[in-house]
Amino acid sequence: MDCIGSTSESPYILLLKAALLIPISHYVLGFLFLLSVFLYNYLEMYFIQELLTGFKGQYVSLTFNSCCDLYQEVVSKCKLLHGRVSSTPWLCSPHFQTIFLQFFERVPACNYQRQLFKTPDGGTIALDWLRNVDVKKPSSEGSDGIPSDDKTPIVVVIPGLTSDSSSAYVKHLAFKMAKSGWNVVVSNHRGLGGVAITSDSLYNAGYTEDIRKIIDHLHTQYPQAPLFAVGTSIGANVLVKFLGEEGVDTPLVGAAAICSPWDLLIGDRFIKRRAAQRIYDRALGIGLKAYAQLHQSILPRLKDWESISKISCIRDYDKHVVCVLANYETVDTYYRKVSCGGYVAKVGIPLLCISALDDPVCTRETIPWDECRANKNVVLATTQHGGHLGHLEGMTAKSLWWVRAVDEYLCALNSSSLNRREKIQNTTVDSPLKSIDEAPYVNVMNGLVKRHQVK
Ligand SMILES: *[C@@H]1O[C@H](CO)[C@@H](O)[C@H](O)[C@H]1NC(C)=O
Ligand SMILES: *[C@@H]1O[C@H](CO)[C@@H](O)[C@H](O)[C@H]1NC(C)=O
Repeated sequence: MDCIGSTSESPYILLLKAALLIPISHYVLGFLFLLSVFLYNYLEMYFIQELLTGFKGQYVSLTFNSCCDLYQEVVSKCKLLHGRVSSTPWLCSPHFQTIFLQFFERVPACNYQRQLFKTPDGGTIALDWLRNVDVKKPSSEGSDGIPSDDKTPIVVVIPGLTSDSSSAYVKHLAFKMAKSGWNVVVSNHRGLGGVAITSDSLYNAGYTEDIRKIIDHLHTQYPQAPLFAVGTSIGANVLVKFLGEEGVDTPLVGAAAICSPWDLLIGDRFIKRRAAQRIYDRALGIGLKAYAQLHQSILPRLKDWESISKISCIRDYDKHVVCVLANYETVDTYYRKVSCGGYVAKVGIPLLCISALDDPVCTRETIPWDECRANKNVVLATTQHGGHLGHLEGMTAKSLWWVRAVDEYLCALNSSSLNRREKIQNTTVDSPLKSIDEAPYVNVMNGLVKRHQVK
């Protein structure tokens, strides 16, 4: 009382004096606390939410047309797609989920057998096979390829941007599928997988000619083996665009598209928005620059190597390399023309799409919800968490949820009545697509089935 009454000092000076009495260490603690709150939010961590729910994870949300045979006959039997997806507790951030696999090689050993495939324009594609027998009895290694009358189903894997058969997530997928009875073939993009470019064109997000040739080749070579395909990231864009271009007229029986970018224009704007996203943009841009420079001597149509040496993001690469080689006037034209979202309506075979809503590379803003609902050949599964091609689960982050989900789905599809192509062709022709606004659709979320009839 005395002190307050008698003082003539300014209250601000008093506050400052009081502040100086607090030990430095308390300031340091306070700063660290604020920093961790900031980082927790910046890295979009969800550890506390997971802790509160006992790390049980969140349910998968399924979006499909109410007369979707793929759902009735196949997806309804997939336990994983009707369960929860939980994350590795110490990887509760889409960024940790995405980055972890790049740096920690906890992947199964895959002893691929390589086959070089020549495209009509003189290009070379490395097909890396991991057969069911290679995984079942590793002692049989070195035995010759697959007999032409083999009935074992084949799954073709189309990797993402700058990825190939040696990428961690591709190995996870190949190993898991080979183990559960498939012959897996990774179709490396041109110039990846350690092979030289042998014609002056590179792969891009919309170039479907290579996968068309590969699928035809596999179908001719192994006419008895049902063919399936899985595309990841840019590979998913290529696959969905290809399926849209082919409609029912493809030897493929079914497919899965994982973490597709869907709309490259929106994706481009998104990846430039925040500092966190620009790190991915930069990392991928530098990878692409190295890819172009590695093959410099075989790309005479590229003249501006000065600009190419300054590439620091995906858009730069698309401008100085893709647009030049593939004759697109501008980068945005390229993005508009090749985005697979617009092809979803024309997909004529069973297609499962998996996307994580917190994917920091391929944003949820691009997901074509309406198109997936309108096409009865498509089921879209979205997860709350998982990052880009992450979905690492378990205490030791040993397995990827999407890999298990793809395996379960393809096995269910392989043994379903939809496996017969005639039937798929018939049902598709019988009831052509309704427009989006006419189509009834179904949402399955949190285990509840909600039916919406749209007028
Ligand atoms: C695929 O289906 C065939 C026929 O039903 C079956 O023999 C085969 O084991 C299945 N393969 C896989 C990997 O599910
Ligand atoms: C389609 O269905 C009809 C009977 O509805 C059947 O005779 C035919 O074999 C099926 N397949 C094709 C490719 O038409």
